[in-house]
Amino acid sequence: MSVAAPAPSARAALDVEAIRRDFPVLARRVHGKPLCYLDNAASSQRPRQVIDTISGYYQSSHANVHRGVHALSQEATDLFEGAREKLRRFVNARSTREVIFVRGTTEAINLVAQSYARPRLAPGDEILISWLEHHANIVPWQMVCEQTGARLRVIPMTQSGELDFDAFLSLIGERTRLLALAHVSNALGTVVPVQRFIAEARRHGVPVLLDGAQAVPHMPVDVQQLDCDFYCFSGHKMCGPTGIGVLYGRESLLAAMPPWQGGGDMILAVSFERTIYNDLPWKFEAGTPHIAGAIGLGAAVDYLEEIGLGRIAAAEHDLLEYATTRLEGVDGLEIVGTAPDKAAVISFKLRDIHPHDLGTILDMEGVAIRTGHHCAMPVMDFYGVPATARASFAFYNTRAEVDRLVAALGVAQEILG
Ligand code: ALA
Repeated sequence: MSVAAPAPSARAALDVEAIRRDFPVLARRVHGKPLCYLDNAASSQRPRQVIDTISGYYQSSHANVHRGVHALSQEATDLFEGAREKLRRFVNARSTREVIFVRGTTEAINLVAQSYARPRLAPGDEILISWLEHHANIVPWQMVCEQTGARLRVIPMTQSGELDFDAFLSLIGERTRLLALAHVSNALGTVVPVQRFIAEARRHGVPVLLDGAQAVPHMPVDVQQLDCDFYCFSGHKMCGPTGIGVLYGRESLLAAMPPWQGGGDMILAVSFERTIYNDLPWKFEAGTPHIAGAIGLGAAVDYLEEIGLGRIAAAEHDLLEYATTRLEGVDGLEIVGTAPDKAAVISFKLRDIHPHDLGTILDMEGVAIRTGHHCAMPVMDFYGVPATARASFAFYNTRAEVDRLVAALGVAQEILG
């Protein structure tokens, strides 16, 4: 496993015990045991700083945004637009006009499918995705292909869970209208070397969308350095609230796209004859937005940046190496997805024990993992399994929790034979 070496200043180890005290839920017990939360790829937990920011907003500053001259509305607007600026900085977008608040990664991808791709697709055109994708980066493209007669093409994956770059070279061509790739696989943890793919797409004049849901909580992301056209992510996987996320889009593309939902806030003027749409980014934000969600997400950005994404990546990489070694030592356990560059996600099978049975016994031991197809059924089909067990780590997890996972797997083996 190799994660880019952190800068020297980022190497100082995290004070994980102090960090854990920021997360109230980590102190609770489940079935009489201390919670060992290893389901971070599904959703992370929130620190007190985020929870307090949201409740503080509701207690003292709530009003609708962009609508009132009164003090509270202006305060709420400043907090909401201030959060947008934090998100801009977080991914290094050029301008807040490129930062659209959406419900999450799924909505961001649907927006691009309907507003960018649909008007541009003709029968025979192609959308290129990969075998590694989450359903959120498959189904919206299938839908737009059905609507337009375009065709979905799929870059194959290898046994280790990497993308086949040579196959990609033979798939991208003059009918390709968009390349949509996961930055990090949610099911396997593979970090996709997206810059190689983007460079090739550029040569063909093909725009690129990245599903960054599993990347932004775990590594520094710079959309200008990546040179992608769209980047999508969710708040709840990065210590922020549910129901809020971001679509980053290159301004020249967003400016040429029609709104995908109509209503308040996305207009400058409305008559029954015609409507003049609002400027970016509000053109894509119809209706009262998730104000508290955006402000809470801004607080999550502050929290992650204070720790430092480089240090987070290094700490999680250490956990991944430790957990991989420990799990490899469990008799009968097979890790699914062994790419050399992985985020701290480990999918695995244990003998012929059904992952759901495993998950239930682990839960009784206080250990929370996800079991199932992880919304990535093609990945499961590739490995010929209906489901895997998946432990996914965050910077607040510890080696002791990895040991608890391994001990709980021992209990499961005893009970289930
Ligand atoms: N996409 C989320 C996961 O991987 C829900 O678990």
